[in-house]
Amino acid sequence: ANKKVGLFVGSLRKESFNKKFANYVKSIAPTGYDFEIIEIGHLPFYNEDFDTGTPPKEYVEFRETVKGLDAVLFFTPEYNRSVPAVLKNAVDVASRPYGKNVWDGKPGGVISVSIGAIGGFGANHHLRQSLVFVNVPTMAQPEAYIGGVAKMFDDDDKLTDESTQKFLKDFVKAYIEWVEKING
Ligand code: FNR
Repeated sequence: ANKKVGLFVGSLRKESFNKKFANYVKSIAPTGYDFEIIEIGHLPFYNEDFDTGTPPKEYVEFRETVKGLDAVLFFTPEYNRSVPAVLKNAVDVASRPYGKNVWDGKPGGVISVSIGAIGGFGANHHLRQSLVFVNVPTMAQPEAYIGGVAKMFDDDDKLTDESTQKFLKDFVKAYIEWVEKING
């Protein structure tokens, strides 16, 4: 069977650049891999009371979905130099209850996307901080800080910036090698 890679997008807006990049990366998935965007916007805010009581059905489904993935790839905007709450919430939800962290051991990657010049560096590294704790071995190199994205797509949401296309193709190649190495 094909290996399943979950793409997590830290923006809920319709015209999200992160979502557009996730769709581009999905379109260049190599043979043998399914890249699938996993929805996170419907998850209620994490509340530790749910760990002992009945969890929301959205949590149960989301944790099952994450559990079934072979690898994870995060697309994050930068909000006030950090990770958007919706993405941190998803990380938290799938990390609990204590001892049932379903991120555990899944090879990861991080791509940060920004209209600004710094390419979401702050968000990228804040996310990595959490990924260390939930034990997602995250590819170190190449890093992906994609800045100045406002002019990279045409009216049909197609990525037209050729150097970024090449960068992402190389990134995905390295990421898949990383996934193979970790998953054996
Ligand atoms: C931003 N933006 C932003 N950009 C950045 O490079 N560094 C930052 O710290 C912030 N902070 C920030 C806070 C909030 C609340 C918003 C709404 C936006 C701008 C951000 O890069 C821009 O809105 C992107 O387009 C967001 O990603 P999506 O939604 O296009 O995927």
